[in-house]
Order: sequence, then structure tokens, then C-alpha cells
Amino acid sequence: MEIKNTHLIDRYKRNLNYLRISITDRCNLRCLYCRPSGAGYKLKHREILRYEEILRITRIGIRLGISKIRITGGEPLVRKDCCEFLGALTRLRGLNDISLTTNGVLLTDYIDPIAAAGIKRLNISLDTLDRNKYKEITGVDAFERVWQGIEAARTKGIDPIKINVVALNGINDDELTDLAALSFQYPFHIRFIEYMPIGHTRLCDKAPLLYPQIRSRLERLGELLPVARAPHDGPAMRYKFKGAIGEIGFISAVSRHFCNECNRLRLTADGRIRPCLLADIHEDIKTPLRAGRLDTELADVFFRAVKRKPFQHPVKLDPNAINGEMVRIGG
Ligand code: 5AD
Ligand code: SF4
Repeated sequence: MEIKNTHLIDRYKRNLNYLRISITDRCNLRCLYCRPSGAGYKLKHREILRYEEILRITRIGIRLGISKIRITGGEPLVRKDCCEFLGALTRLRGLNDISLTTNGVLLTDYIDPIAAAGIKRLNISLDTLDRNKYKEITGVDAFERVWQGIEAARTKGIDPIKINVVALNGINDDELTDLAALSFQYPFHIRFIEYMPIGHTRLCDKAPLLYPQIRSRLERLGELLPVARAPHDGPAMRYKFKGAIGEIGFISAVSRHFCNECNRLRLTADGRIRPCLLADIHEDIKTPLRAGRLDTELADVFFRAVKRKPFQHPVKLDPNAINGEMVRIGG
């Protein structure tokens, strides 16, 4: 039986047309806000979806109305043949937006094949401009490499380059204005993200720095002028300083959640469809896929996940309520 071209509409009339795919739980960094405090469990090779499996799930998703994809990790570029996979993804018909989130450590090595694969937009994580602090936050002395990677992406014509900054109380809060000031010099979108308490990271106990506080710090640099939102914009509130060539964004999942506009589903590295980042709800698609089920049966897994998508996540997030680890869900 053929899948009818249809849409993934949830109980609250949200059209879920954006799939974020985590291709690995491995990462070459150990960011304070992402990795669990202990050693953590690593997925075994056979537990991780193979690229052909991800492509099949994606093709089914496209027939169900998915038009936008983001590849995440862990760190996607540490997975073997990531760029070949990106190429296969960009060759699929029916997607109008494919992007990649990376920590940038391997970007200089891979920017040519990334661009050749047809990726035009990148999100790069960078929480500090200070080499020592970078090491403190990520566990690795790689600030220079990431910065070179960002430069390489710019030279290659990747646009926009979005820089993700997680605002960390007592860690990088003294640098938020310096990071925002990059937008005067570079065409980057610098996005300030509220820390979300997901799983037991080493940051759980600190009071998070929220949007109003982040914003008031940045306003020391000048007035933040709103940028008109485009139809397919994500949850970032967009602004620009007068005279700047880049933009400022705020992603405030905790203080003003954007659940009512959420158009996302996630595919985890171990093959589960997760309808909400902040709720431990999954539908296993790997088992039926490996059992040789039909496309229509796999489409039903999407529908089941969509049916279970909560209206909103709890306003006050409790780290005990979310067992998933960011590194496996992919942010
Ligand atoms: N809270 C907010 N953002 C997070 N990220 C990872 N963990 C967290 C968290 N606990 C973001 C980082 C990175 C992206 C992959 O996910 O900004 O850029
Ligand atoms: Fe790795 Fe990204 Fe998690 Fe940092 S936030 S540890 S770079 S997956």
C-alpha cells in the first residue's frame, strides 16, 4: 500500500514539517551543559541507525510533509562518511532546507565536502572567545580550531552562519556582550540560548541565566532593533544592533517557551521518534524498520509520535523529569 501524501498535524493543529536528525551520540567535546556528569552510556554500533536507514525514514517523512531537516549529534562530523550522507540527503527530492549543527572542531577539515554536499547553512556552537574558558566549558583546548573553522565556513560562502551561545551563569556571563559585538564585525547570527536542564549535567544546580537578564546585558552595546521574521523562522527572536552586519537572536525555551509554534520532530541516533525535546516520549521506529516492515507501517510510527506530542513542556523544568541526554537527542 502506498503512503498518501499527507501532513503530520498534531492534536493542537501544529503542522510538523521539521525533522531534526541526530546521527551519533559521540562527541569530541564534553560541554558542561550537555554531557552527563558520570561516564554516561554510549550507544553500541548496532544500536545506531545506519545511514541507509536514516535515509529511508527521511523519505517516508518527506511523503508525510517533512520539508526541513537539521543534522545534529553528538557531533555529526565525528561520524564516518558524514559528508557522503549529507550529499545523499541533499539529493532527496522534496526538502527545501537542510542544515547542520556542529561544534566546529572539525570544520576546517570538512568544509569543502560539506559545501560540495550542498549544505548552505551552519549552526556552530561557541560559548566563549577565551581559549582557557573554552577548555573549561568543553574540556578540550580547541578554541583556535573552531575559530578557524568558522572563518573557513565564511570564506566558503556559507550563509547564514549561526553561532550558538548557551548563556551560563558564572561561566560566560561576563562575555555575552563581547560575543554579541561580533555582529558588528561579521555577518554572523549570534544566538543566545537559555540553558535547559536536560538530564544530569554538571550544571544542574546553578540558577539559569534567563532571557531578560541576557538581553539587558546586551543592551549595554546599543538598542536592539527587531528584524522581521521570515515565514520559516525557528524559535529565535531576531534583532540587530544599529550599524551591525550580523544579527542577534534569543532562544528562550525556559522563560518564554514557543511550544505553540513548535513544528519539530526529532529522530534520535538510536532510532526513536521523539516528538518533544523536553519530554521523555518516544516511538521506536528502528525495530519495525529492521523487522522489514512496510513504509506504511513506518509512517504509522510517525503518526503515533505526532499523536503523543504534548501541547507544551512544563514551564518550570525539572532535571529529574527528563532522562534523555542532550548528546543523544541532539538539541
Ligand atoms: N541547554 C541549552 N542548549 C544546549 N545545547 C546543548 N545542551 C544544551 C542545554 N542543556 C545546545 C548547544 C549546541 C546545540 C547542539 O545544543 O548550544 O549548540
Ligand atoms: Fe558535544 Fe555539542 Fe554536547 Fe558540546 S553541546 S558536548 S559539542 S554534543
